[in-house]
Amino acid sequence: MNIVLFAVAAYLIGSISFAVVVSKLFGLGDPRTYGSKNPGATNVLRSGNKVAAIVTLIGDGFKGWIAVWLAQKFGPQFGIDDGGIALVAIAVFLGHLWPIFFRFVGGKGVATMFGVLIGINPWLGLGALATWGIIAYAFRYSSLAALVTCLFAPFFYTLLKGPDIILLMIVVMSVLLVYRHAKNIGNLLAGKESRIGAKKSETN
Ligand code: G3P
Repeated sequence: MNIVLFAVAAYLIGSISFAVVVSKLFGLGDPRTYGSKNPGATNVLRSGNKVAAIVTLIGDGFKGWIAVWLAQKFGPQFGIDDGGIALVAIAVFLGHLWPIFFRFVGGKGVATMFGVLIGINPWLGLGALATWGIIAYAFRYSSLAALVTCLFAPFFYTLLKGPDIILLMIVVMSVLLVYRHAKNIGNLLAGKESRIGAKKSETN
C-alpha cells in the first residue's frame, strides 16, 4: 500500500508542467500553441526567453530528482525497496508525459529523465548530461541529443553494476522517451528538424 502512495505522489509531482507554469509566470505564450507545441525547455527557448527555458529545464529536472530522492530517503522505513524506487521513477516520468493537471498533454521527458538519473546516481546523471551536451554541441539538435542520451543511459548504468530492476526502469524510460520523439525522428530523417535556438516560426 505504501508503494502505491509513493507512486501516486510521484505521478502528481511529475504532472506539474514547468514549461506551462513558467511561461505563464514570464508572460510568454503557451508553449503548447507554438513551435513544436511541446511543453518542454527546448520549445520554451523558441519563445526567445533563455531564462524561462533554463528555469523550465531546472524545474522539470528537479521534479524527477526529488521524487527519487524522497523514495530513497524515506522509502525504506515504509518498506520501499529498489523495485519501489524504480516504480516511483517511472511514475514521476509518466506524470511529466501525461500530466493529470494539464489534460494529459505533457512533454517528452528529457529533463525529467535527467533528474531521475541524477537521483539514481550522480555519475550516471553526469554521463547522461555530458552525452546530451556533446551531441547537442556537435549537431545543434535537442531531440537527437536526447535520443542518443537515452540509448546510452542503460549502458552507462550497467557500468555502475546497480540492481537489475533499476536498469529495467531506465530501459522503460528510454523506450517511452523514443516513443514521445516519434515526430522528431521523422523530422530528423526528413532533414526538417529545427535546430537549437530556432525561433517559433522556424519549427515544424
Ligand atoms: O526536450 C525535448 C526535445 O528533445 C525535443 O523538443 O520541442 O524540439 O520537439 P522539441
